Amino acid sequence: MISDSIELAIKTLKQNELIAIPTETVYGLAGNAFSEEAVNKIFSLKKRPLHNPLIVHISSIHYLNTIAINIPDKALQLAQKFWPGSLTLILDKHPNVPYIVTAGNEKVAIRVPNHPLTLELLKQLTFPLAAPSANPFGSISPTSAKHVFDYFSDQLEVILDGGNCISGIESTIVGFENNEPIIYRLGALSIEDIEKEVGPIKFKMKNDQTPIAPGMLSRHYSPKTETYLTNKIKSLINTFPNKKIGVLVFSITIIDSQIVHTEVLSKDGCLEEAAKNLYAALHRLDEKDLDLIIAEIMPDIGIGKAVNDRLQRAVKK
Ligand code: TXA
Ligand code: MG
Repeated sequence: MISDSIELAIKTLKQNELIAIPTETVYGLAGNAFSEEAVNKIFSLKKRPLHNPLIVHISSIHYLNTIAINIPDKALQLAQKFWPGSLTLILDKHPNVPYIVTAGNEKVAIRVPNHPLTLELLKQLTFPLAAPSANPFGSISPTSAKHVFDYFSDQLEVILDGGNCISGIESTIVGFENNEPIIYRLGALSIEDIEKEVGPIKFKMKNDQTPIAPGMLSRHYSPKTETYLTNKIKSLINTFPNKKIGVLVFSITIIDSQIVHTEVLSKDGCLEEAAKNLYAALHRLDEKDLDLIIAEIMPDIGIGKAVNDRLQRAVKK
């Protein structure tokens, strides 16, 4: 049920049941992070493999040391600067956190989401919330309560409605090696903003055999419709005569008789707006019964890098 009742959300969570929560990035499928029973339900409802760990959401930096230990100075610095916000830190796990949350790892992922309704909920709770994105494993992340409802309908007693997500793309994940930060997943917080705070930062790029964060698996965030990615959109369209094509473009609109549906991510060419609209546009294209979707590569700067990362994963087979 779609609702805005924090009371009902609390009641449901206290019974070790799941709810959906709005965040500034994407909606989360949330349960009591300290309850193995609740966390088990997250994995089974999402059909997520148990080896793929979850992010723990807390209401403020003050609770960080109840979830993590041995916190590097640069982690604290980043948390102070960017929380509440789209930054997830991977840190040594506190014994409080059950191993099911971290998939048996000694590291735990933590963030303070930046959404008033969810922050208020977290403040009123006596436990943190484990929450992956509220989509079945591998499919497009939800950026509205309706997206969540379309996936899980009556299987969730409460889908807390906090409107459309303002960032629209998942958090940036930062881990540490020898106390130095490393980016594990590109996301809503840009590399440029992180580097302003802690200097040049390294990447651990995706490796299908041993993904550091399964958000790095090459196929993820995928529409059901076959999807292509290109920087030569017109010539690619011409190679598919007699097909029902939908296109996803950054700012220009393509007029072509073959195109059944066009999604323009930002009329003004604003990358933040494009990121915000990305998943909703993919959801809409996926509902149009198209033969294929052709997406345009975005400018590869700022949050555009994270948008391109998601598009690349959407197309891979
Ligand atoms: O913006 C977001 O991060 C959203 C909202 C709901 O907070 N959450 C989200 O969760 O995207 P999820 O589960 O879809 O992606 C979390 C990623 C996964 O790729 C997971 O493997 C990685 O974080 N992760 C979680 N714990 C980890 C750990 N201990 N070590 C390495 N990676 C971890
Ligand atoms: Mg996800």
